[in-house]
Amino acid sequence: MPEETPVVERKLSKNELQKLQSESYAKRQAYREKQEATRKSLKHVRIEESDVQSDVELPRKRFYRQRAHSNPFSDHQLEYPRSPDDMDWSRLYPYYHDEATGEMTKRVEIADIGCGFGGLMVDLSPEFKDKLILGMEIRVQVTHYVEDRIIALRQKHLDTNGYQNINVLRGNAMKFLPNFFHQSQLEKMFFCFPDPHFKQRKHKARIITNTLLSEYAFVLKEGGIIYTITDVLDLHNWMVKHLDEHPLFERCGEEWEANDKCVEIMTNATEEGQKVTRNKGSKYVKCYRRLPNPKSL
Ligand SMILES: C[S@@+](CC[C@H](N)C(=O)[O-])C[C@H]1O[C@@H](n2cnc3c(N)ncnc32)[C@H](O)[C@@H]1O
Repeated sequence: MPEETPVVERKLSKNELQKLQSESYAKRQAYREKQEATRKSLKHVRIEESDVQSDVELPRKRFYRQRAHSNPFSDHQLEYPRSPDDMDWSRLYPYYHDEATGEMTKRVEIADIGCGFGGLMVDLSPEFKDKLILGMEIRVQVTHYVEDRIIALRQKHLDTNGYQNINVLRGNAMKFLPNFFHQSQLEKMFFCFPDPHFKQRKHKARIITNTLLSEYAFVLKEGGIIYTITDVLDLHNWMVKHLDEHPLFERCGEEWEANDKCVEIMTNATEEGQKVTRNKGSKYVKCYRRLPNPKSL
């Protein structure tokens, strides 16, 4: 047996560490610039055969890292339409834009709120081929990752027009949802592993509150579904409490949840959910149906 060379571990000097850090910074910048160029040219257009390079690669998450939390109350200098009619959906779903009439042939019916790295949309896309699905995400780099992922998937699946029905929007779902969607437009809204905001004084930043539920009820159609999943029991109880108390929602029930395709998908598809599986954590699911508006007296 050849003798193994012993691995000598030594601490890096300050200079070596700085050199390594600046090399990895330069690498990340170069990667981001290349991706940005592709994104700029292909984000809003119908991708043609001639746009597809032979070496299309899915984006690498490590180049898009960003702080885990973003303050939903701060001014993120976001762009949003004055009303849903001012929204140009053709830029997100060019495949569903009829050039002859200038109209969209479909509208968004499924929303993934705080979509993170987009895993849920990617898995929902082939299941709901005839529906437009939108992810809303507040973090810039994470949104860029999802945009680049969708561009790459569209290129890879050009022959079947795959993944034309999903896209992502950088936005704050706690502030501007009714600017994007008409009343009763949505059929499903997903809240997958939302930020837990553990401290009591931060609870107001949670994505499910009484006020926000009324906004969600406004954009959801009668019979539409709110899907929730989290690994944080306290947050689960919070969401259940607020949804139970809201007059426009009722529980779908465990039997319904056990038979629903989307529950199965959201339990396994999202990046956060996969992390919970790897760490052998628990996942708490609850779904609610949008009730009809009460008849006015
Ligand atoms: C813990 S991650 C979960 C991501 C994804 N749903 C998953 O399961 O992998 C929560 C995500 O919601 C986003 N987010 C938080 N508040 C938001 C808001 N007000 N509007 C849009 N996105 C938000 C965060 O940036 C983060 O990416």
